[in-house]
Amino acid sequence: MLVVIKKDYQEVSREAARIVAGTVRAKPDIVLGLATGSTPLGLYKELVALYQTGSLDFSRATSFNLDEYLGLAHSHPQSFHHFMHHNFLSQINLPADRAHIPDGTITGKYDEYCAGYEQAIKSAGGIELQILGIGRNGHIGFNEPTSSLASRTRLKALSRETAEDNRHFFSSASEMPQCAITMGIGTILDSRRVLLLASGRSKAAAVAKAIEGPITSSVSASALQMHPDVTFIIDEEAAYSLTQRDYYRHVVEMTKIFTPERLD
Ligand code: PGA
Repeated sequence: MLVVIKKDYQEVSREAARIVAGTVRAKPDIVLGLATGSTPLGLYKELVALYQTGSLDFSRATSFNLDEYLGLAHSHPQSFHHFMHHNFLSQINLPADRAHIPDGTITGKYDEYCAGYEQAIKSAGGIELQILGIGRNGHIGFNEPTSSLASRTRLKALSRETAEDNRHFFSSASEMPQCAITMGIGTILDSRRVLLLASGRSKAAAVAKAIEGPITSSVSASALQMHPDVTFIIDEEAAYSLTQRDYYRHVVEMTKIFTPERLD
């Protein structure tokens, strides 16, 4: 696990974009795992800018999003379909038929649908690089606390904390979905590389539990301790509660000298 601590949100976004862009250039037919939320917005802006200057090409790439609210039309301004198209996909050249986002409009046969999503990831060759944010409750995707560490894509009831964090985006409390379709923790652990981004003091406790706490289903992100290639890119505020900050900085310095490709 690498923990890269940057000054602020902008630096986190730039560092993440450097790694994602480098990976896409090295493997143009890459399968990306994408996340929504306020955290990856800066990353998407940087990637769009690189695309617009002609230095990045997504024409052979494929993407799979982590999750989607259940019950929202794709056109709903709070749906993750809308988020992805508005903030990223409509501004780059990733072919629409290769951009996968769980369909929150389905009204039955949820297990069958979710098994199909898992199969589509497998058929595409698996996810090479998975982008993650982290919730205040330590969730990744919508894998709420107590999600099985071996879970796969499924319908998941949202926790009270997640509902509280997101309710203000909706015009009324009753409009806030109570469930979502999300990749599971097992699905995420299958990706070959994970980049988790976090910014701000509100994430500090979750980040510390994920990196330094015990592996527990109470903090879904702690499962990443079992993944062989995870990089946390976090700002000073999100790193606030880590006890080993100096050691993580030392590890990054040594990595730059001995195995710099791990930071590419
Ligand atoms: P945020 O959400 O990026 O909007 O903070 C992260 C998450 O809940 O996973």
